[in-house]
Amino acid sequence: MRHLPRVSSTSIISASDENYKDAVAAAVDMLRAGEVVALPTETVYGLAGNVFDPAAVAKIFAVKERPSFDPLIVHVARREDLPRVAIVPEDIQPTVEKLLNAFWPGPLTLILPKHPDVPDLVTSGLDTVAVRQSASKIFRAIGKELGEPLAAPSANRFGRISPTSAYAVQQELDDRIPLIVDGGACAEGLESTIIQITAGEKRPTITILRPGPVTKEMLQNFGKVERPKRPHDGSAPSAPGMLPSHYAPRTPLLLIEDWEEFRPEPGKKYGLLSYTGEPGKGYVSRYRWSIVEALSPGNGKLPEAALRLFHLLRKLDNAGLDYIVAEPVSEVGLGVAVMDRLRRAAAVH
Ligand code: TXA
Ligand code: MG
Repeated sequence: MRHLPRVSSTSIISASDENYKDAVAAAVDMLRAGEVVALPTETVYGLAGNVFDPAAVAKIFAVKERPSFDPLIVHVARREDLPRVAIVPEDIQPTVEKLLNAFWPGPLTLILPKHPDVPDLVTSGLDTVAVRQSASKIFRAIGKELGEPLAAPSANRFGRISPTSAYAVQQELDDRIPLIVDGGACAEGLESTIIQITAGEKRPTITILRPGPVTKEMLQNFGKVERPKRPHDGSAPSAPGMLPSHYAPRTPLLLIEDWEEFRPEPGKKYGLLSYTGEPGKGYVSRYRWSIVEALSPGNGKLPEAALRLFHLLRKLDNAGLDYIVAEPVSEVGLGVAVMDRLRRAAAVH
Protein backbone atom coordinates (compact mmCIF):
# COMPACT_ATOMS: atom_id res chain seq x y z
CA MET A 1 0.00 0.00 0.00
CA ARG A 2 1.25 3.45 -0.84
CA HIS A 3 1.26 5.95 2.00
CA LEU A 4 0.67 9.52 1.04
CA PRO A 5 2.90 11.95 2.92
CA ARG A 6 1.06 13.85 5.67
CA VAL A 7 0.46 17.41 4.62
CA SER A 8 1.02 19.97 7.33
CA SER A 9 0.78 23.75 7.19
CA THR A 10 3.85 23.99 9.45
CA SER A 11 7.24 24.31 7.73
CA ILE A 12 10.46 23.36 9.46
CA ILE A 13 13.62 25.18 8.43
CA SER A 14 17.06 24.06 9.53
CA ALA A 15 19.37 26.60 11.14
CA SER A 16 22.50 24.68 10.16
CA ASP A 17 25.51 26.75 9.06
CA GLU A 18 24.72 26.58 5.32
CA ASN A 19 21.12 27.49 5.95
CA TYR A 20 21.56 29.96 8.78
CA LYS A 21 20.87 33.17 6.84
CA ASP A 22 17.78 31.70 5.16
CA ALA A 23 16.46 30.55 8.53
CA VAL A 24 16.92 34.04 10.02
CA ALA A 25 15.26 35.68 7.00
CA ALA A 26 12.31 33.25 6.99
CA ALA A 27 11.62 33.77 10.70
CA VAL A 28 11.97 37.56 10.48
CA ASP A 29 9.59 37.74 7.50
CA MET A 30 6.96 35.82 9.46
CA LEU A 31 7.43 37.93 12.60
CA ARG A 32 7.18 41.16 10.55
CA ALA A 33 3.89 39.85 9.14
CA GLY A 34 2.56 39.48 12.69
CA GLU A 35 2.99 35.71 12.81
CA VAL A 36 4.27 33.53 15.63
CA VAL A 37 7.19 31.14 15.05
CA ALA A 38 8.89 28.45 17.12
CA LEU A 39 12.56 29.19 17.77
CA PRO A 40 15.30 27.31 19.60
CA THR A 41 16.78 28.74 22.78
CA GLU A 42 19.45 27.20 25.00
CA THR A 43 16.76 26.14 27.52
CA VAL A 44 13.70 24.93 25.57
CA TYR A 45 12.06 25.92 22.28
CA GLY A 46 10.05 29.15 22.48
CA LEU A 47 6.94 30.29 20.63
CA ALA A 48 7.95 33.81 19.62
CA GLY A 49 6.06 36.91 18.55
CA ASN A 50 6.86 40.62 18.42
CA VAL A 51 6.25 41.90 21.94
CA PHE A 52 4.94 45.25 20.68
CA ASP A 53 2.38 43.61 18.35
CA PRO A 54 -0.68 42.83 20.51
CA ALA A 55 -2.26 40.69 17.76
CA ALA A 56 0.87 38.49 17.61
CA VAL A 57 0.87 38.21 21.41
CA ALA A 58 -2.80 37.20 21.33
CA LYS A 59 -1.89 34.49 18.80
CA ILE A 60 0.70 33.07 21.20
CA PHE A 61 -1.97 32.62 23.87
CA ALA A 62 -4.42 31.14 21.37
CA VAL A 63 -1.94 28.66 19.83
CA LYS A 64 -0.81 27.42 23.24
CA GLU A 65 -4.34 27.46 24.69
CA ARG A 66 -2.73 29.38 27.48
CA PRO A 67 -4.99 31.18 29.95
CA SER A 68 -4.60 34.93 29.71
CA PHE A 69 -3.70 35.17 33.42
CA ASP A 70 -0.34 33.48 32.78
CA PRO A 71 2.18 36.14 31.63
CA LEU A 72 4.90 35.63 28.99
CA ILE A 73 8.68 36.02 29.16
CA VAL A 74 10.15 38.80 27.03
CA HIS A 75 13.48 38.17 25.29
CA VAL A 76 15.85 40.98 24.40
CA ALA A 77 18.42 40.34 21.69
CA ARG A 78 20.80 42.96 23.10
CA ARG A 79 21.28 44.05 26.69
CA GLU A 80 20.79 47.68 25.57
CA ASP A 81 17.19 46.75 24.75
CA LEU A 82 16.33 46.04 28.40
CA PRO A 83 15.13 49.66 29.04
CA ARG A 84 12.64 49.27 26.16
CA VAL A 85 10.66 46.69 28.14
CA ALA A 86 11.57 47.14 31.81
CA ILE A 87 12.54 49.75 34.36
CA VAL A 88 15.41 48.90 36.68
CA PRO A 89 14.74 50.47 40.11
CA GLU A 90 17.72 52.40 41.47
CA ASP A 91 17.91 50.44 44.73
CA ILE A 92 18.54 47.13 42.94
CA GLN A 93 20.45 48.56 39.96
CA PRO A 94 23.94 47.45 41.11
CA THR A 95 22.69 43.90 41.80
CA VAL A 96 20.94 43.70 38.43
CA GLU A 97 24.14 44.90 36.75
CA LYS A 98 26.21 42.21 38.48
CA LEU A 99 23.71 39.45 37.69
CA LEU A 100 23.52 40.41 34.03
CA ASN A 101 27.31 40.51 33.80
CA ALA A 102 27.47 37.05 35.30
CA PHE A 103 24.56 35.29 33.58
CA TRP A 104 23.45 37.12 30.40
CA PRO A 105 23.11 35.99 27.75
CA GLY A 106 21.82 32.86 29.47
CA PRO A 107 19.07 31.06 31.37
CA LEU A 108 18.29 33.74 33.99
CA THR A 109 14.96 35.60 33.83
CA LEU A 110 14.44 38.73 35.93
CA ILE A 111 11.10 40.06 37.10
CA LEU A 112 11.26 43.87 36.89
CA PRO A 113 8.77 46.75 36.79
CA LYS A 114 7.31 46.86 33.30
CA HIS A 115 7.82 49.60 30.73
CA PRO A 116 4.46 51.21 29.82
CA ASP A 117 4.99 50.31 26.13
CA VAL A 118 4.75 46.58 26.86
CA PRO A 119 1.16 45.52 26.13
CA ASP A 120 -0.82 44.45 29.20
CA LEU A 121 -1.62 41.17 27.49
CA VAL A 122 2.08 40.19 27.66
CA THR A 123 2.20 40.64 31.44
CA SER A 124 -1.41 39.57 32.11
CA GLY A 125 -2.06 43.02 33.51
CA LEU A 126 0.78 42.85 36.06
CA ASP A 127 2.96 45.89 36.59
CA THR A 128 6.04 43.67 36.30
CA VAL A 129 7.59 41.94 33.29
CA ALA A 130 9.78 38.83 33.02
CA VAL A 131 12.90 39.47 30.88
CA ARG A 132 15.84 37.45 29.69
CA GLN A 133 18.49 37.43 26.97
CA SER A 134 18.81 33.98 25.43
CA ALA A 135 22.26 32.53 24.83
CA SER A 136 21.06 30.97 21.56
CA LYS A 137 22.89 32.57 18.65
CA ILE A 138 20.07 31.99 16.17
CA PHE A 139 17.40 33.29 18.56
CA ARG A 140 19.35 36.50 19.14
CA ALA A 141 20.17 36.90 15.44
CA ILE A 142 16.43 36.79 14.65
CA GLY A 143 15.63 39.29 17.41
CA LYS A 144 18.38 41.65 16.22
CA GLU A 145 17.28 41.47 12.62
CA LEU A 146 13.65 42.11 13.59
CA GLY A 147 14.77 44.96 15.83
CA GLU A 148 12.10 44.23 18.44
CA PRO A 149 12.06 42.19 21.65
CA LEU A 150 10.26 38.84 21.41
CA ALA A 151 7.62 37.48 23.75
CA ALA A 152 8.29 33.75 23.89
CA PRO A 153 6.84 31.19 26.25
CA SER A 154 7.82 27.55 25.84
CA ALA A 155 6.46 26.16 22.55
CA ASN A 156 4.11 23.57 24.06
CA ARG A 157 0.39 23.48 24.61
CA PHE A 158 -0.50 24.80 28.06
CA GLY A 159 0.33 22.42 30.89
CA ARG A 160 2.29 20.03 28.67
CA ILE A 161 5.98 19.11 28.55
CA SER A 162 8.28 21.85 27.23
CA PRO A 163 9.85 20.94 23.86
CA THR A 164 13.61 20.49 23.65
CA SER A 165 13.78 19.67 19.92
CA ALA A 166 12.07 20.80 16.71
CA TYR A 167 10.41 17.38 16.55
CA ALA A 168 8.90 17.89 20.00
CA VAL A 169 7.56 21.31 18.91
CA GLN A 170 6.00 19.64 15.89
CA GLN A 171 4.28 17.11 18.17
CA GLU A 172 2.87 19.96 20.25
CA LEU A 173 1.96 22.59 17.69
CA ASP A 174 1.82 21.00 14.23
CA ASP A 175 -0.65 22.82 11.96
CA ARG A 176 -1.07 25.62 14.49
CA ILE A 177 1.98 27.71 13.49
CA PRO A 178 3.56 28.49 10.12
CA LEU A 179 7.24 27.90 10.96
CA ILE A 180 9.62 26.02 13.24
CA VAL A 181 13.30 26.94 13.13
CA ASP A 182 15.26 23.76 13.84
CA GLY A 183 18.39 24.56 15.85
CA GLY A 184 18.92 20.99 17.07
CA ALA A 185 18.55 19.82 20.66
CA CYS A 186 18.55 22.50 23.37
CA ALA A 187 21.76 22.77 25.38
CA GLU A 188 20.16 23.09 28.86
CA GLY A 189 16.88 21.22 28.45
CA LEU A 190 15.11 22.99 31.34
CA GLU A 191 13.45 26.42 31.39
CA SER A 192 15.32 29.44 32.71
CA THR A 193 15.59 30.28 36.40
CA ILE A 194 13.15 33.09 37.26
CA ILE A 195 14.12 35.51 40.02
CA GLN A 196 12.81 38.63 41.70
CA ILE A 197 15.21 40.98 43.49
CA THR A 198 14.39 43.17 46.47
CA ALA A 199 16.79 45.66 48.06
CA GLY A 200 17.84 44.92 51.65
CA GLU A 201 19.64 46.94 54.31
CA LYS A 202 22.84 44.96 53.93
CA ARG A 203 22.30 42.54 51.07
CA PRO A 204 19.56 42.28 48.49
CA THR A 205 17.17 39.32 48.59
CA ILE A 206 16.93 37.13 45.51
CA THR A 207 13.70 35.13 45.41
CA ILE A 208 13.74 32.13 43.08
CA LEU A 209 10.23 31.91 41.60
CA ARG A 210 11.14 29.02 39.28
CA PRO A 211 14.32 26.97 39.83
CA GLY A 212 16.34 26.35 36.68
CA PRO A 213 19.84 26.08 35.21
CA VAL A 214 21.15 29.07 37.23
CA THR A 215 21.10 27.42 40.65
CA LYS A 216 20.70 28.75 44.18
CA GLU A 217 24.41 28.02 44.74
CA MET A 218 25.31 30.18 41.71
CA LEU A 219 23.16 33.08 42.95
CA GLN A 220 24.39 33.13 46.54
CA ASN A 221 27.28 35.52 45.82
CA PHE A 222 24.80 38.17 44.72
CA GLY A 223 22.39 38.26 47.66
CA LYS A 224 20.37 36.31 50.18
CA VAL A 225 18.62 33.59 48.15
CA GLU A 226 15.10 32.47 49.05
CA ARG A 227 12.28 30.35 47.68
CA PRO A 228 8.87 32.00 47.83
CA LYS A 229 6.70 31.10 50.78
CA ARG A 230 4.02 28.75 49.57
CA PRO A 231 0.45 29.86 50.05
CA HIS A 232 -1.15 27.24 52.34
CA ASP A 233 -4.66 28.63 52.05
CA GLY A 234 -5.23 27.56 48.46
CA SER A 235 -4.92 31.15 47.27
CA ALA A 236 -3.21 32.03 44.00
CA PRO A 237 0.51 31.25 43.93
CA SER A 238 2.77 34.31 44.40
CA ALA A 239 3.93 34.06 40.80
CA PRO A 240 1.20 33.52 38.28
CA GLY A 241 1.74 30.45 36.18
CA MET A 242 3.76 28.78 38.90
CA LEU A 243 0.91 26.34 39.03
CA PRO A 244 1.59 22.93 40.53
CA SER A 245 0.12 21.10 37.53
CA HIS A 246 2.57 21.78 34.75
CA TYR A 247 5.00 20.01 32.46
CA ALA A 248 2.71 17.01 32.40
CA PRO A 249 2.82 13.91 30.22
CA ARG A 250 -0.58 12.42 29.32
CA THR A 251 0.45 9.18 31.04
CA PRO A 252 0.08 9.57 34.83
CA LEU A 253 3.45 10.14 36.46
CA LEU A 254 4.19 8.82 39.94
CA LEU A 255 7.14 10.41 41.70
CA ILE A 256 7.97 7.70 44.23
CA GLU A 257 10.14 9.32 46.89
CA ASP A 258 10.12 6.24 49.12
CA TRP A 259 10.02 2.74 47.54
CA GLU A 260 7.56 1.53 50.21
CA GLU A 261 4.98 3.90 48.70
CA PHE A 262 4.93 1.96 45.40
CA ARG A 263 1.76 -0.16 45.11
CA PRO A 264 1.61 -1.47 41.53
CA GLU A 265 -1.81 -2.40 40.17
CA PRO A 266 -1.82 -5.90 38.66
CA GLY A 267 -1.87 -6.04 34.86
CA LYS A 268 -0.76 -2.44 34.39
CA LYS A 269 2.35 -1.42 32.48
CA TYR A 270 4.85 0.65 34.42
CA GLY A 271 7.89 2.37 32.91
CA LEU A 272 10.72 3.74 35.05
CA LEU A 273 12.45 7.08 34.69
CA SER A 274 15.62 6.17 36.51
CA TYR A 275 18.51 8.43 37.44
CA THR A 276 21.38 6.18 36.33
CA GLY A 277 19.62 3.13 34.83
CA GLU A 278 22.18 0.90 36.58
CA PRO A 279 20.93 -2.47 37.88
CA GLY A 280 21.24 -2.48 41.65
CA LYS A 281 20.94 1.30 41.84
CA GLY A 282 17.72 3.17 42.56
CA TYR A 283 14.58 1.26 41.57
CA VAL A 284 15.92 -0.45 38.44
CA SER A 285 15.99 -4.03 39.77
CA ARG A 286 13.06 -3.72 42.17
CA TYR A 287 10.25 -4.31 39.70
CA ARG A 288 9.68 -5.81 36.24
CA TRP A 289 9.44 -2.48 34.43
CA SER A 290 8.12 -2.46 30.87
CA ILE A 291 10.84 0.07 30.00
CA VAL A 292 13.65 1.77 31.87
CA GLU A 293 15.00 5.12 30.68
CA ALA A 294 18.02 6.68 32.39
CA LEU A 295 18.36 10.42 32.93
CA SER A 296 22.14 10.12 33.18
CA PRO A 297 23.16 6.62 32.13
CA GLY A 298 25.83 4.99 34.25
CA ASN A 299 27.32 7.87 36.16
CA GLY A 300 24.45 10.05 37.39
CA LYS A 301 25.39 13.63 36.50
CA LEU A 302 22.77 16.30 37.22
CA PRO A 303 23.44 18.53 34.17
CA GLU A 304 22.93 15.52 31.91
CA ALA A 305 19.77 14.57 33.84
CA ALA A 306 18.38 18.12 33.42
CA LEU A 307 19.21 18.07 29.73
CA ARG A 308 17.43 14.77 29.09
CA LEU A 309 14.43 15.12 31.45
CA PHE A 310 11.78 16.51 29.07
CA HIS A 311 13.05 14.44 26.16
CA LEU A 312 12.66 11.21 28.16
CA LEU A 313 9.31 12.20 29.67
CA ARG A 314 8.05 12.70 26.14
CA LYS A 315 9.53 9.35 25.04
CA LEU A 316 7.95 7.47 27.97
CA ASP A 317 4.67 9.28 27.34
CA ASN A 318 4.63 7.87 23.79
CA ALA A 319 5.48 4.31 24.92
CA GLY A 320 1.94 3.06 25.61
CA LEU A 321 2.41 2.75 29.38
CA ASP A 322 -0.26 2.94 32.06
CA TYR A 323 2.07 4.74 34.47
CA ILE A 324 5.47 6.40 34.48
CA VAL A 325 7.36 6.02 37.76
CA ALA A 326 10.10 8.56 38.45
CA GLU A 327 12.94 8.08 40.92
CA PRO A 328 13.80 11.13 42.99
CA VAL A 329 17.16 12.86 42.43
CA SER A 330 19.09 14.65 45.16
CA GLU A 331 17.94 18.22 45.64
CA VAL A 332 21.24 20.04 45.30
CA GLY A 333 22.32 22.29 42.42
CA LEU A 334 20.39 21.46 39.27
CA GLY A 335 18.62 18.66 41.15
CA VAL A 336 16.30 21.30 42.65
CA ALA A 337 15.00 22.24 39.18
CA VAL A 338 14.70 18.58 38.11
CA MET A 339 12.66 17.71 41.24
CA ASP A 340 10.54 20.86 40.78
CA ARG A 341 9.54 19.72 37.28
CA LEU A 342 8.94 16.11 38.39
CA ARG A 343 6.72 17.25 41.29
CA ARG A 344 4.66 19.45 38.98
CA ALA A 345 4.32 16.67 36.41
CA ALA A 346 3.21 14.28 39.17
CA ALA A 347 0.73 16.77 40.64
CA VAL A 348 -1.63 16.64 37.70
CA HIS A 349 -3.21 13.22 38.01
O1 TXA B 1 13.67 29.20 29.42
C1 TXA B 1 12.62 29.83 29.39
O2 TXA B 1 12.32 30.67 30.25
C2 TXA B 1 11.66 29.55 28.21
C3 TXA B 1 12.37 29.95 26.93
C4 TXA B 1 11.48 29.83 25.72
O3 TXA B 1 12.90 31.23 27.04
N1 TXA B 1 10.43 30.24 28.39
C5 TXA B 1 9.49 29.86 29.29
O4 TXA B 1 8.33 30.61 29.24
O5 TXA B 1 9.64 28.95 30.06
P1 TXA B 1 6.97 30.15 29.89
O6 TXA B 1 5.97 31.16 29.44
O7 TXA B 1 6.66 28.76 29.56
O8 TXA B 1 7.18 30.37 31.41
C6 TXA B 1 7.23 31.68 31.90
C7 TXA B 1 6.91 31.71 33.36
C8 TXA B 1 5.45 31.45 33.61
O9 TXA B 1 5.34 30.52 34.67
C9 TXA B 1 4.93 32.82 34.02
O10 TXA B 1 3.89 32.73 34.95
C10 TXA B 1 6.15 33.47 34.62
O11 TXA B 1 7.19 33.03 33.81
N2 TXA B 1 6.08 34.93 34.54
C11 TXA B 1 6.05 35.68 33.43
N3 TXA B 1 5.92 36.98 33.74
C12 TXA B 1 5.88 37.06 35.07
C13 TXA B 1 5.77 38.12 36.01
N4 TXA B 1 5.66 39.37 35.63
N5 TXA B 1 5.77 37.82 37.33
C14 TXA B 1 5.89 36.53 37.73
N6 TXA B 1 6.00 35.47 36.90
C15 TXA B 1 6.00 35.72 35.60
MG1 MG C 1 6.11 26.85 29.80
